[in-house]
Amino acid sequence: MTENYDVIVIGAGAAGLMCAAQAGQRGRKTLLLEHNDQIGKKILISGGGRCNFTNMYTEPSDYLSANEHFCKSALSRYTQYDFLKLVDDYGIAYHEKTLGQQFCNDSAKQIVTLLAEECEKGAVDIRTSSSVSSITKNDVFEVQCKDTQYQAQSLVIATGALSFPRLGATDFGHQLATQFDIALTPLRPGLVPFTFAKDTRAQYEELAGISLDASVSCNGQSFREGLLFTHKGLSGPVILQISSYWQAGQTVEIDLLPNLNLVSHIQKQKQQRPKVQVRTVLNDILPKRFVELLCQQQDLDNCQLSNFSNDQLDKLCASLQPWCISPAGDEGYSKAEVTLGGVDTNELSSKTMMSKKIDGLYFIGEVVDVTGHLGGFNFQWAWASGFSAGQFV
Ligand code: FDA
Repeated sequence: MTENYDVIVIGAGAAGLMCAAQAGQRGRKTLLLEHNDQIGKKILISGGGRCNFTNMYTEPSDYLSANEHFCKSALSRYTQYDFLKLVDDYGIAYHEKTLGQQFCNDSAKQIVTLLAEECEKGAVDIRTSSSVSSITKNDVFEVQCKDTQYQAQSLVIATGALSFPRLGATDFGHQLATQFDIALTPLRPGLVPFTFAKDTRAQYEELAGISLDASVSCNGQSFREGLLFTHKGLSGPVILQISSYWQAGQTVEIDLLPNLNLVSHIQKQKQQRPKVQVRTVLNDILPKRFVELLCQQQDLDNCQLSNFSNDQLDKLCASLQPWCISPAGDEGYSKAEVTLGGVDTNELSSKTMMSKKIDGLYFIGEVVDVTGHLGGFNFQWAWASGFSAGQFV
């Protein structure tokens, strides 16, 4: 059996839902295929169930890509204000958590419902539990799903990338690009926790659960947000952010006291209260369990400030400002919020997201080599690239 459409979108995540809704509302007969039994699974669990759906301060500089200019066109065609207006139109209450990050007050379900209703307005035919077995192109694209063949002039690949396989992530988009001789940039996990080597892990394991404000730098990029010790290594927003810039084998510099110059602070304390223990001074500015470990490591138990030598002070400061770590690795795609790399942007029109080689073939969202920082930027890319393609399919 063959069914004919103007547009077929594969993948009912953030980008695919936005694109299908736009295409449908333009009067294009649109089919949206999703292999999960439900649409928008990643949206539902995002932002701790409240979906950090955009960021007020979205700028092209919040994205990593081999071509830093590629994202500009789509991001200006559909901005954070456009998505906020849509959220307002649906009466969804939201709030800014921090650093421009917008979250639903109630539930991420509201965003999925919004997108489903937008698709309904465009009479989009949504088919879940639909696995595509093959795609070919003759005059039109032919998409084979079990016993049904679908045909369309325009085919949009919105299948995301490799992170969180348990939510249905696949390399389908990358494989399809390869099938059509479209280049990919190297793939790796992004926004992902770091792991320590065995010996370091043993040292810091007891700190699991401690979080503190930190400033972290690597490869000329710096972030300041919360850092979390885990059983395997380090996580928290600041680590996820820097992980996208880190390459295996590199050192990461962490300032655990970003508001303070530790040398002058301790020298001042030494003058003002020489009888006080170093541990007490540290307890005032760092978590207790962390200080305990530090005092053990540096032999500072029962050490009064008056006896605290300059060498000891140098050693202490060197371990905190900055604390230099060499992660053994990261927790991989099962814990990564995004996949860095993807369809090479040189292969696509930044205006329409269509392949330069294959007429009518579009790539949008995370499958493309455009990856945002943590904080709502990845959904904004999904909305913007989906919207842009939706105007041209
Ligand atoms: P997405 O992965 O959302 O959708 C792809 C869809 O295609 C999926 O439904 C998948 O099942 C389907 N699919 C795959 N292969 C298929 C095939 N062969 N056939 C049919 N369907 C197929 N970002 C942000 O801005 N704010 C946030 O709060 C969060 N939070 C967050 C939490 C967690 C745990 C993760 C893993 C990620 C985030 N992100 C995020 C990142 C964000 O979720 C991500 O960037 C977007 O969902 C990407 O949207 P896409 O539509 O491109 O892919």
